[in-house]
Amino acid sequence: MKVHLKTYGCQMNKLDTALVVSALKANGFSLTDSVKEADVVLINTCSVREHAEQRAFSHLGHLKHIKKTRPDLIVAVIGCMAQRLGADLLGHEAVDIVCGPAQIPQITELVTKALKEKQKTLVVMEKIRQASEEQSLELEKFESVYGVEDKQISGQAFVRVMRGCNNFCSYCVVPYVRGPEVSRPPATIIEQIKKLAEAGVKQVTLLGQRVNAYKYAAGEKTYCLADLLQMASDIDGIEWLKFVTNYPSEEFFDEILQVMADSPKVSNYLHIPAQSGSDKILQAMNRRYTAEQYLELLDRARAIVPGIAIAGDFIVGFPGETEEDFQATVELVKKARYKNCFIFKYSPRPGTTADKGLKDDVPIEVKKRRNTELLAEQEKISGRLSREFLGKKVKVLVEGLSKKPHLNSAESRDNPQLVGRTATDYIVVFNGPASLAGELVNAKITQTSPLTLFGELVQLNP
Ligand code: SAH
Ligand code: SF4
Ligand code: F3S
Repeated sequence: MKVHLKTYGCQMNKLDTALVVSALKANGFSLTDSVKEADVVLINTCSVREHAEQRAFSHLGHLKHIKKTRPDLIVAVIGCMAQRLGADLLGHEAVDIVCGPAQIPQITELVTKALKEKQKTLVVMEKIRQASEEQSLELEKFESVYGVEDKQISGQAFVRVMRGCNNFCSYCVVPYVRGPEVSRPPATIIEQIKKLAEAGVKQVTLLGQRVNAYKYAAGEKTYCLADLLQMASDIDGIEWLKFVTNYPSEEFFDEILQVMADSPKVSNYLHIPAQSGSDKILQAMNRRYTAEQYLELLDRARAIVPGIAIAGDFIVGFPGETEEDFQATVELVKKARYKNCFIFKYSPRPGTTADKGLKDDVPIEVKKRRNTELLAEQEKISGRLSREFLGKKVKVLVEGLSKKPHLNSAESRDNPQLVGRTATDYIVVFNGPASLAGELVNAKITQTSPLTLFGELVQLNP
């Protein structure tokens, strides 16, 4: 039986897809890129903004069409929309299986059953915030059994260190669809990283919605993210360690930065979303820091780790955001000197406290304008920071063929255009043999744009 997969959303979702793929493969399924060839279509969904849900719905609309001529096709929806919409989603004509994020260990069984019995099935936990110990153990088992072969980009893998989120930022749906925050045992995490290293993985990215809040008590000792990074650094074969996403808070901050400074394997890259530069809006978002405290954290990060690259996220058009509030965000962006940042237009999510208590009162045109304006401001900064790389040599972990034709593609040589990233998460495009995917190489930067460095391969096997 052949399965076609489509994944929306964050790296957590990509990791879940990878786990599901390993489980399905272990049970005799194979993958296909084409919906036409597939017996099963599996969609891993995201609920973080309305747009993400709309995209999944339009995909389902397309599948509904296909099912008219191929009624045997099984369509399974997993992930955050499955959790949020449950039975409503099962009501969609195209959908056969709706399986929540806490139930993915059952996915092979569900798919096998649906192929046989052609019945609609719903397995979603009604109260995910009350997840049981037993469920947690089941997920833990699923994760450690299938977490090894999940390389989606060669040479790289994600390892979850925490599940769920307890932060309840007022706009955010994640705590409601991913359940309570649970830190995974350090021994399991380290074991997984060792296996990945043995399988040739060079870069591991540790994942958590608030990864810097990782905390696990085992006997006398309480482990924090800095401990995990230190232990993972000692594993042979691992070259680079990254971690996302950080919440701006004091707890463990200096310890984590110190490991970054001390260990050559911990990438000097910090993704630490501010969301807004206005204290009034930050408070309404239930983010527990001021713009000044946030900038202090960045100063400290730069003092402990010179040359650190910092990235952020922002939401524009949050309820009550005045022009003055927005200007405070622009000011923060100017001061923060991000390598890049992701900017989103506020999207009310049903069930969140912002949606229940605050009117979505910033008109869409205003949200769009603020988005464009903030992006333009950031581009100037990104452009300046990128240009500092001109003429310099950087180490790149090659991901594979570059998808888009880029600046220097006109002078095409024998080698195709490859894309990779530096330890500080800069995207680098250069020509080279496709066999370099998953390898570390050196590139000399010859051209830059705000988000991409263009270069030439200078020496293999650095
Ligand atoms: N746990 C991570 C990621 C959360 S989702 C963190 O806290 O940073 C990724 C980003 O989506 C967030 O940083 C935020 O900028 C954005 N986001 C979340 N909910 C949103 C909403 N309702 N509308 C618009 N953007 C949102
Ligand atoms: Fe959402 Fe806030 Fe948790 Fe991030 S920290 S997942 S934004 S609630
Ligand atoms: Fe989306 Fe769920 Fe991730 S809502 S951002 S896929 S945790």
